[in-house]
Amino acid sequence: MKAVCLISGGGTNLEAILKHINKEKLNLSITSVISDNPKAHGLKIAKKFNVDTHVFNFKEYKSKNIFDDQLEVYVENINPDIVILAGYMRILSKSFCRLHSGKIINIHPSLLPKLKGLNTYQRALSNNELYHGSSVHLVVNEIDSGSVIVQFRTKIKSNDTVSSLRKRVMEGEYTIYPMVINHLANENLKIINETPYLFGKKLIDPIVINDF
Ligand code: GRF
Repeated sequence: MKAVCLISGGGTNLEAILKHINKEKLNLSITSVISDNPKAHGLKIAKKFNVDTHVFNFKEYKSKNIFDDQLEVYVENINPDIVILAGYMRILSKSFCRLHSGKIINIHPSLLPKLKGLNTYQRALSNNELYHGSSVHLVVNEIDSGSVIVQFRTKIKSNDTVSSLRKRVMEGEYTIYPMVINHLANENLKIINETPYLFGKKLIDPIVINDF
């Protein structure tokens, strides 16, 4: 199967995925790593793993529509089986989502449907949540709203800071994201009408991996 990966920043999830591919734990080829930000550190990671990169520098486009069109044409030409969003900070166009419906996945640092949007670590701490974590979910038109497939969950400790919590959650991400991608690549996980089926059974609740 072939995938493209969209990033905007650090690329540590991308790195975890590429490491799994290199160790042959993941039967997938990443055809292109695409970034809207030429300075994204993830581009360096892609190059280190000899994966092609392509930058659509958002700042160089006159409008989001033009940017969206160019991105769409580029990805359509690749015709990937999976579109992996790994820290991609822009909203995909409706047309892009329709074109790759059922093939786009994202990882979001919260236990969705809780804490959609940004600053989830700070919000989890301020809300005195008992747990925090990360969710791998399908991407549909509405932000952070597609079916959740797998979650990583950790207990919030009384001495946790944004940084300690982020570190723990991101370690979990490096496990759950390759896990979901592996199931997609092996076709154990299929998406039919925006609904995930794992080993032929409709996935009603996400699979939860606890670190406790
Ligand atoms: C991850 O924490 C992910 O949950 C969120 O963006 C972050 C990306 O980090 N969507 P990185 O670029 O993979 O290091």
